[in-house]
Amino acid sequence: MHYLLINGSPRKNGASSKISKIIKEELNKHNHIITEMNSYDLHVKACIGCLQCRPYKTCVLPEDDGHKFARELSMTDVVIIVTPTYWGNMTAKTRMLFERAVPTLEYIDGLKIKKMLKGKKAIIITCCSAPFPFYYLKNQANTAIHAIKNILTAGGIKVVKTAIIGNTNNIEFNAKFIQKISKMIKKIA
Ligand SMILES: Cc1cc2nc3c(=O)[nH]c(=O)nc-3n(C[C@H](O)[C@H](O)[C@H](O)COP(=O)(O)O)c2cc1C
Repeated sequence: MHYLLINGSPRKNGASSKISKIIKEELNKHNHIITEMNSYDLHVKACIGCLQCRPYKTCVLPEDDGHKFARELSMTDVVIIVTPTYWGNMTAKTRMLFERAVPTLEYIDGLKIKKMLKGKKAIIITCCSAPFPFYYLKNQANTAIHAIKNILTAGGIKVVKTAIIGNTNNIEFNAKFIQKISKMIKKIA
């Protein structure tokens, strides 16, 4: 199986990066093909809202990593998104990727909407400083999960697992934590 692992954090040693590493190690045990993309390492122009992607079925901006991301998304079997919660949402550069991938996710012809990525699966993980149960408050981590879910389901991708890793300033990334993340991934790998 082909996995696309998106790390949405600008911090190379933050919670999302540590979790991405654990996920990669678990997937490697099962010999999956893994493509890793870090939102903040990619050169992506912001969507300009021209909607020319509707008739042309591709983003008409000059080729950049936004196109690369869209191609990877269309080729993968499972997409795993690990992003910090920023203001109750995914990080800005992670959202930029999805805004550039509109025609990859859905095709609109008049009143007909075609979900382009049916059959694919997704896992969404968000890291936040709010502890349980506060991350369930409005505009906290739970809202970030929903924002990503909205985009993926628009494309027909089935979200099979979501997780909020709260209190990131205080949690220990110890053996127990690694086991918890590995177990979650193992279930779907
Ligand atoms: C711009 C910004 C906005 C943030 N907004 C939230 C928020 O809405 N809720 C929250 O619990 N934490 C928020 N945080 C804290 C981060 O989610 C937290 O530090 C997380 O661990 C960052 O992920 P990382 O360690 O993978 O980089 C915010 C941090 C930044 C820099």
